[in-house]
Amino acid sequence: MKPVNLGVLISGRGSNLQAIHEAIGSRMLDAAIRVVISNKEHAPGLERARGQGLNGIFLDPKRFASASHPREEYDRAIVQLLREAHVDLVVLAGYMRIVTPILIHAYPWRIMNIHPSLLPAFPGLNAQQQALEWGVKVSGCTVHFVTEGVDEGPIIRQAAVPVLEGDTVDSLSARILEQEHRILPEAIQLFAENRLRVEGRRVRVRESG
Ligand code: GRF
Repeated sequence: MKPVNLGVLISGRGSNLQAIHEAIGSRMLDAAIRVVISNKEHAPGLERARGQGLNGIFLDPKRFASASHPREEYDRAIVQLLREAHVDLVVLAGYMRIVTPILIHAYPWRIMNIHPSLLPAFPGLNAQQQALEWGVKVSGCTVHFVTEGVDEGPIIRQAAVPVLEGDTVDSLSARILEQEHRILPEAIQLFAENRLRVEGRRVRVRESG
């Protein structure tokens, strides 16, 4: 089986990117990272990716600021970079931009996002803080396919994490992040094995073998 070619989009630290890279290294994940694209020039994840010999590209949103549809033009440029790298699956791993239909339609059911809550609870920014403020006893993380609604697409994998007395945003985020690093490579592997089928809102996962 040919490894799945990944394009990973990031904006910051890149620990999920690192988890994917390590899962490939330990042969738990049958994939290859063909390109890493960041919308932030100094994203630590981009610098680390380049240091590891990965193809890391900074695409500056300012280049498109004067276009009549800057977000769409930005995504058109992303699609071009992804195509040049022969990407099969796009992974949003801490990518802090809303993607437009230009990107979504270029890769139908081939864009995944990792979100630090049990969706549909707490979509959007600061999900861990939202969970603490709401007072839930359990939170977690979700990998889902990307659709036009933010954090709304069909769910591929989730992991639950307890919220403990005395938790802060940092301590809860760290506990959730450990699970992110597990379920994101797992979800990508299910894609690599061609085991995912979207039926309406549901993602069916075929048995292996
Ligand atoms: C993660 O919590 C992810 O769920 C969210 O942004 C954070 C990115 O972390 N979308 P990292 O850049 O992968 O370390």
